[in-house]
Amino acid sequence: MDNTASQAHTTGLRAPAHVRSLLAHLHTLSLDQENQLGLGNGGPSINKATDALRSGSAQPARNFDDTMRDKFIALTEDKALFVYNMIRAKGALTVVEAGTSFGVSTIYLALAVGQNASSAGKMQSEARVIATEREPTKAAKAREHWKMAGETVEQYIELREGDILQTLRSDVPEVDFILFDSMLPLTCGHMIFADRLYTVWTPMVLPTLKLLELSLKPGAVIIADNVVSSKEGYSDFLAYINRTESPYSTVTLPYPGGLSMSTFRPMLVPEDLTERTSNLEIFAPPDKTGRAPEAKSHIRIARPTRDIGEAQRFYVDGLDMQVLYRVTAEGTAHDASGHVDDLIMLGWPDASWHLEFVLDHTEDAANACLPRPTVEDLLVVYVDGPIDRNVLQRLVNAGGREVRPKNPYWEQWGVTVEDPDGYRIVLSQRQWVNKEVRARWIASK
Ligand SMILES: C[S@@+](CC[C@H](N)C(=O)[O-])C[C@H]1O[C@@H](n2cnc3c(N)ncnc32)[C@H](O)[C@@H]1O
Repeated sequence: MDNTASQAHTTGLRAPAHVRSLLAHLHTLSLDQENQLGLGNGGPSINKATDALRSGSAQPARNFDDTMRDKFIALTEDKALFVYNMIRAKGALTVVEAGTSFGVSTIYLALAVGQNASSAGKMQSEARVIATEREPTKAAKAREHWKMAGETVEQYIELREGDILQTLRSDVPEVDFILFDSMLPLTCGHMIFADRLYTVWTPMVLPTLKLLELSLKPGAVIIADNVVSSKEGYSDFLAYINRTESPYSTVTLPYPGGLSMSTFRPMLVPEDLTERTSNLEIFAPPDKTGRAPEAKSHIRIARPTRDIGEAQRFYVDGLDMQVLYRVTAEGTAHDASGHVDDLIMLGWPDASWHLEFVLDHTEDAANACLPRPTVEDLLVVYVDGPIDRNVLQRLVNAGGREVRPKNPYWEQWGVTVEDPDGYRIVLSQRQWVNKEVRARWIASK
């Protein structure tokens, strides 16, 4: 890998001379900082950190973000060149960079989308890098670097400042390429960030991917840095992309620290379904006698919401449901009066029920359909065993609130969490089987 990489340094990048010099300078600064911090190639090692902690030579750092505020932690040149060439090979025009820091890798991304646009005869406005950074001082420094790089770079970058889970919540176009430049921030020289373990940087990766998933173009490429050296931090992301029937096909390239490359290939609608209908809902064949609802009929539980993104976050991040379908007002789910709604369908793909959340855009609040749940409107899920406390924590992290149920029965047999709209979900440790419950009840009479 090293030989190829050093050759690529001279041949793999098309850029004006002053941009090359700028990049060389910024890479040197970044590497010097990393060497001083003892981060070495590919980020920290969890074993080194644990050993240091055990031996007492390490002090937990109270504030990781403060320590990192003036640090580049830039993608190394060989990885940046690979990413640049991947984007060029794909002809990608829309790239999201999750974690921009001082904007070094962003320069490569901007050069690539700009060159793709001009070779495809596209307008400048059709190519863009959506860069994201939550540290204002880093964002300011990144802008300085892009200004120094000049027009060929600066005009393609849209920097969104703030927490990525907020800044990418709306106005995301179809995405061709994502760069997750992250690491598990465990060691920093002789300091250990054990108190923040799993809470900084890498944990943003999976929620960000889920946020962007609906905007990914088939064939989109997702690169994640340090997936080997920071595998503990990436564990939820790796489990998600490598799960059975995952739409991602992933290889890990042997760069220092490990660089994963996933291609997004969403499952196609099975052929028998495409033949039956081009519409979302699958219409049953005509049946002269008509049909009545029965045990196997699928159920939709529909509710109003105040914020579709919040509802998505709660049920997807908290309960691993998936987005089955989503349409925005521009996508026109409207009735005869021209009334428009945003809606989202959430569910577990194998379940016989799903949830729908509708956002009513009626301007007059008195007539808008808003959530008005009571404490007895419950969605009870029978888990059939003890409730995993991690699930409860995830629901709370995803915007839920654990509450005391009105009926003590639910407190005895489960946990109750309010979703961001105030609808209550009970995770009950009990089991429920209709026919058994009925048989027992009849026998007891
Ligand atoms: C490894 S650095 C990115 C380096 C950059 N890609 C480069 O090569 O120059 C990761 C950056 O992500 C930022 N970051 C971490 N969590 C974030 C979040 N939740 N939202 C936005 N930015 C975040 C950090 O402040 C840090 O600057």
